[in-house]
Amino acid sequence: MTTPNRGSGELDALLDQLREYVTPQPPCISLPPRAFTSPELYELELDRIFRRSWIMVARADQLAGPGDYLALTIAGEPLLLTRDRTGALNAMSPICRHRMMPVVAAGTGRAEHFTCPYHLWRYGLDGQLIAATHMRGNPAFDPGTCRLPGFAVEQWQGFVFVNLDSGAPPLRTHLSRIGEDLGNYELGAMTQVGSFVEDWHCNWKVAVENVHENYHVMGFHPETIQPSTPGGSDTDVRDDSPLVLRFTVPFKEPQEVEFLRLTEQERRQVYNVSVFPCTSFAAAGETVIWLSFIPTAIDRTEVRGGILAPSQTVEGTDAEQLQQIREGNEAYAAVINGEDQRGLEEVQRAVGSRFAGRGHLSPKEPAVPVFYRKLAAALLAEEYREPAEAGPLAAVQSSLS
Ligand code: FES
Ligand SMILES: [Fe+2]
Repeated sequence: MTTPNRGSGELDALLDQLREYVTPQPPCISLPPRAFTSPELYELELDRIFRRSWIMVARADQLAGPGDYLALTIAGEPLLLTRDRTGALNAMSPICRHRMMPVVAAGTGRAEHFTCPYHLWRYGLDGQLIAATHMRGNPAFDPGTCRLPGFAVEQWQGFVFVNLDSGAPPLRTHLSRIGEDLGNYELGAMTQVGSFVEDWHCNWKVAVENVHENYHVMGFHPETIQPSTPGGSDTDVRDDSPLVLRFTVPFKEPQEVEFLRLTEQERRQVYNVSVFPCTSFAAAGETVIWLSFIPTAIDRTEVRGGILAPSQTVEGTDAEQLQQIREGNEAYAAVINGEDQRGLEEVQRAVGSRFAGRGHLSPKEPAVPVFYRKLAAALLAEEYREPAEAGPLAAVQSSLS
């Protein structure tokens, strides 16, 4: 058996195939199988996408009080988010400026400051060095200018986004249209009533393309989602910016609402929003679910997410009742997520087969090629720029009709 060439020629060939998605007549076929297994493409994705993109990592409830922190890894880069005593959110690298020990392990907690476990240098919640023992004798060392390098962070409607590129253009402008359209859901006033962090054994794009369509609901979710939101329903897609697309999917029956003033139309549809590359949220009646699919390896994805509800839902509840509500929501999310995870891990096992190939897409999954187009545009950044306003959707729709 011969070993196929895995050199840069293969990356060029893959990019040639991806380039077709940004042409005026993009192909309505799925990604090449090697897009999910090529180490060179994965490196390019880390460099051109994940080291410079906005990713939703938490809900502000998870970083509510002074000293609350969240430590995680994006694209191999450790990251620390804190709420400081002024109420500001900070995002920074937790890597100690002395000899590179992370000052905090991955996870969540509350801290007054961060003390590096190695030689006990201490940093404030904003990343500034507070104390460094036995350093006075080194005249070259200036503690006043020593701080953990910062990343960009934005809070929008209670959602917390980070960007490893501290000079990244703001995300807010991309989301203004969504904020207006989703005004009745009062996203900023919602409370997180459940959250999860899961480890899926699949490439991040396998998970992200799946969340761009409800065609799979009849296959993966026959007893959970299918009865209320049947798979293969007509999907209406809007492509708002190089980063944001929205699509709606009809409910079988309009949702009952208790606290929100939703229009008839809003009660009749699930409103899905996707923020390139790997974040999405869906407003379904009075429930909102958010998800981010963060690559941890070429075939591993950390799934972070939460369930939101109007704050009135939990008003007057005691800690025990709140815990029960959380456990109920998280158990339900675990069932749905498990259905997707099992299926998508099977897909990941198959993409390495010699017989895996590109397939034709259905008109019932029109947001998928729009995602492909955004992916290709980001990977070909040096030679291609998406228009700032909508545009590519028309091309995708014409090839699907
Ligand atoms: S590596 Fe942090 S104090 Fe030495
Ligand atoms: Fe699903």
